[in-house]
Amino acid sequence: MADFQPATETAPLLRVEHLRVSYQSFESAAVPALRDIDLTIAPGEMVGLVGESGAGKTTLARSIMGLVPRPGRIDSGRIEFRGQVMAELPDEERRAILGRHLAMVIPNPRSELNPVLTVGQQISNVVRAHSKLGAAEARQTALRMLEAVRIPDPGRRLNAYPHELSGGMAQRVVIAVALACEPSFVISDDATSGLDVTVQAQVLELLQDMVRSRGASALFITRDIAITAHFCDRIAIIYAGEIVEIADTAAFFDRPAHPYSIMLLAAFSHSGDLRRRWTRTEIAVNGSAAGCAFAPRCVRRQPRCEAEHPALRTTHSGHAVRCHFPVEG
Ligand SMILES: Nc1ncnc2c1ncn2[C@@H]1O[C@H](COP(=O)(O)OP(=O)(O)OP(=O)(O)O)[C@@H](O)[C@H]1O
Ligand code: SF4
Ligand SMILES: [Mg+2]
Repeated sequence: MADFQPATETAPLLRVEHLRVSYQSFESAAVPALRDIDLTIAPGEMVGLVGESGAGKTTLARSIMGLVPRPGRIDSGRIEFRGQVMAELPDEERRAILGRHLAMVIPNPRSELNPVLTVGQQISNVVRAHSKLGAAEARQTALRMLEAVRIPDPGRRLNAYPHELSGGMAQRVVIAVALACEPSFVISDDATSGLDVTVQAQVLELLQDMVRSRGASALFITRDIAITAHFCDRIAIIYAGEIVEIADTAAFFDRPAHPYSIMLLAAFSHSGDLRRRWTRTEIAVNGSAAGCAFAPRCVRRQPRCEAEHPALRTTHSGHAVRCHFPVEG
């Protein structure tokens, strides 16, 4: 049971239960990418999902969209969005939900934009596909969105083609396209990390505004734990396909309890160099299904850690932590 999450008064917008996803292979055994993920997100909540490369962040994002890429497969579990199981919906219904209610922004703007349409046309098309607005109103919305993502000289950029934009500007256009329909749930998969720090903060403020003022929700995926402190209500730490800690932001930064969270924060509180090294770290995972996946890197490891897989359980400070010997007090 997902009994470790604080109860919310409103029904969750997103509910992920016991989700297991693996990538199949002809040459070797299936690679588990997500192992028993439980996560709920309420309307008006912005949750940060932090973990290093290969932890399973994109796989979770795509599973939520109902689009696990081949050769990936949902082995078990359930994902409900607005009370509906996305994977069970006919393609057409799922497509109608994606874009209008559930939008995902990814960090490769060139692949997202149509090279033969202007920026204004692309945003207007999306707006018109999901609303009853006429051409002039949709163009006004497009202009407003370009202003919101702080594109310089937005009136002129409406008529620009993607190849005329810098990478950072193209990224902001992709974000503008995703937010133009005011979706109720936005997944940002590492989508702001290429932007300079000031623009990144502005885009996140925009996302936060949307969440706060319209009761929308967001899952903000990143490898940079520092940025989550200012914008997210809760932080979930994912390691080797498992959520190892989840807590309210203030409580998390005040007293991180999982040894991996502490390692993560220690790395980020030091130099930029350490930070770059951390984001490149190859994951050393405990291959045995029995023990704790983090055991090979853990300074608090004890014999029990190798033998028994830790369950996610609530500590006295209200964090949910997957560890036999969390750092408490
Ligand atoms: N198409 C694929 N085929 C086989 N294995 C895959 C595929 N995509 C992902 N994986 C594996 O699934 C695991 C999770 O990958 P995923 O892309 O979800 O990680 P991530 O947290 O998004 O990493 P990053 O921060 O680098 O984007 C990794 O072990 C990865 O090697
Ligand atoms: S269960 Fe053991 S090895 Fe795993 S994080 Fe906790 S102390 Fe470390
Ligand atoms: Mg990813």
